Amino acid sequence: MDQSSLILIHNASQLLTLAGGPQRGQRLGELNLIQDGAVAIAEGKVLATGRSAAMLARYPEASTFDAQGHVVLPGLVDPHTHLVWAGDRANEFEMRLQGRSYLEIMAAGGGIVSTVNATRAASAEDLIEQTSERIWQAFRHGTTTAEVKTGYGLELSTELKQLDVILALNARGPASLVPTFLGAHAIPAEYADRPDAYVDLVCEGMLPEVKKWWRARTQRQPLPFVDVFCEEGAFDLAQSRRILETASALGFPLKIHADEFKNLGGAALAASLGAASADHLVRTSDADIEVLANSNTVAVALPATPFGLNEPDYTPAQKIIAANGLLALASDTNPGTAWGESMQFILALACRKLGLTPAQAIAAATINAAAALNLADRIGSLEPNKQADLLILNVSDYRQLGYRFGTNLVSYVVKQGRIYPVT
Ligand code: NIG
Ligand code: FE
Repeated sequence: MDQSSLILIHNASQLLTLAGGPQRGQRLGELNLIQDGAVAIAEGKVLATGRSAAMLARYPEASTFDAQGHVVLPGLVDPHTHLVWAGDRANEFEMRLQGRSYLEIMAAGGGIVSTVNATRAASAEDLIEQTSERIWQAFRHGTTTAEVKTGYGLELSTELKQLDVILALNARGPASLVPTFLGAHAIPAEYADRPDAYVDLVCEGMLPEVKKWWRARTQRQPLPFVDVFCEEGAFDLAQSRRILETASALGFPLKIHADEFKNLGGAALAASLGAASADHLVRTSDADIEVLANSNTVAVALPATPFGLNEPDYTPAQKIIAANGLLALASDTNPGTAWGESMQFILALACRKLGLTPAQAIAAATINAAAALNLADRIGSLEPNKQADLLILNVSDYRQLGYRFGTNLVSYVVKQGRIYPVT
């Protein structure tokens, strides 16, 4: 074959391939590490991986890129973010430091609804510019694919504006964005005294319209995910079920915010509906962990959320692993509970607060995170034919990920074969 368009990244102290598919239970943390490794890239995809010496001999004509004895691993996948918003909530952060709780602030008309007001008022161009900065931050810290939710519109036109922004930013790059419609993120102020009427609107008005709009806007792209915030003060279990069942009947793949503050049973609901993931899971009961672990629904832990809220309890990751579940990690980046774009910090939190080893945290933020987006066949590991999304770190031992925090360990991000230096 013509090797002139090949790129061979070689001399990686440790090439973490994460080969072998999503990792359940005790399998979590299988890095499939190649010492002194190399990865060959052609047309934006991984062609092969192996030892550097063998790969240099096999592809003598390739352009080479020397990883200089540093770690190379798949790009991080962030399967839960709310990156599209306007404004900030620094005032609420201060209120919480003075003793008010997140749910109290939300019940008093602040919280999600205050970001809704700012997002409704912002133009699409403004949202694109504000969000693009956050995406670049995430990308420089190693996120090559991020899921992004709507949910700061809570009316059809603003929800569609958010979806449009996600599509525009996916086309602009550098990261790939996976869209989720979260029209059921909160009860909007205008429906505060008749929440069921808002559920009717989501089911009968928004979901069919979103589908129609999506088909016209994107032609062949698969439908976005549909997500619900199943929580006291947001949507109860029956309302969540109705929304997700309606979405499923229309052909949307599903996600859920479950058990962040109270256990309403959302995790088991997600498993019973075949959702791609159930996220948060701080208050999930042992029985629901069993149900989840016996399904293909990925359990997504968001340790930046309790950290951001300064709350003591985290997702019981060890129970999920012991029950043979599929565990992934995400940032939950949003202006209310967790404004932090760096997945490296999520790994550091997961090692301390969820008891994961660095290897487990890396698997949870790559191949298992890809599974939470139904994309484990395309991203999340370095295997032939998968997207060439990878990171070259400035350290030689992968355990520095998780161990260190607050500084960026990424030197280069490679996105579909294109190399971006991180300065
Ligand atoms: O995942 N829980 C709901 N959504 C976000 C918070 C959004 C906000 O406060 O603006 C979360 O934590
Ligand atoms: Fe969230």
